[in-house]
Amino acid sequence: MKHLIKTLSLLFIASLIISCGGDDGKKSKKEKFKIGTKKEIKKVKKEVKEEVKEEKTGDLSNKGIGPVKSVTLGDLDNAMVAEGKAIFKAKCTACHKIGKRFIGPDLTGVTKKQSPEWIMNMILNPDEMVKKDPDAKALLIEFNGSPMANQSLKEEEARKILEYFRTLE
Ligand code: HEC
Repeated sequence: MKHLIKTLSLLFIASLIISCGGDDGKKSKKEKFKIGTKKEIKKVKKEVKEEVKEEKTGDLSNKGIGPVKSVTLGDLDNAMVAEGKAIFKAKCTACHKIGKRFIGPDLTGVTKKQSPEWIMNMILNPDEMVKKDPDAKALLIEFNGSPMANQSLKEEEARKILEYFRTLE
C-alpha cells in the first residue's frame, strides 16, 4: 500500500512537470511570435527616423523661437567655457551624455548643426521650440516624444553653455 501511494505521487509529480514543460513550449512559441513583430516595429521606427533625418534642415540660418535674437561669437572665452561646463554638468547630464546618445541627443558638434541663437532658444524655451520649430519638432519625434526639459536658466547661463558646446567637436 505504502508503495502504491509513493508510486502514485511520483506519477502525479511527473505529470505536473510534463504539463509545465508543455506550457513552456507554448510560451516560447508566443515569444517567437513577439520577437518577430518587435523586429518589424524596430524596422519601421528606423525607417521613420531616417526620413525625419533627411527632412531635418539643420539650417544654420534658423534662429529658433525664443528670447535670443542675435548672438555674436568672438574668440573662445575659456572662463565662460569652464562655467558653462559646470552648469551643463549640474543641469543637463541627467539626459545628455557627451559622445553618445542618451535620453537626449549627443551634443558633440551641435554648434556645427544649429545656429547659436537656436541652441540658446532650445535651452531657454524648449516647450515652444518642440511645438513650433521644425528642427526641434523633428528631434522630438526622433527621441520618441520625450521632451527636452526647461531648466529655467538665465540667458547668460545658456550663453556660457553655448561657449562650452563650442569646444565639443
Ligand atoms: C529631461 C531630459 C533633458 C534635460 C534635463 C535636458 N535635455 Fe536637452 N534635450 C532632451 C531631448 C529629449 C532632446 C531632443 C528634443 C526633444 O525630444 O525634445 C534635447 C535636445 C537638446 C538640444 C538640441 C540638440 C540637437 O541635436 O540639435 C540641445 C542643444 C539641448 N537639448 C541642450 C540641453 C541643455 C544645455 C540642457 C541643460 C540646461 C538640457 N538640454 C537638458 C532632453 C533633455
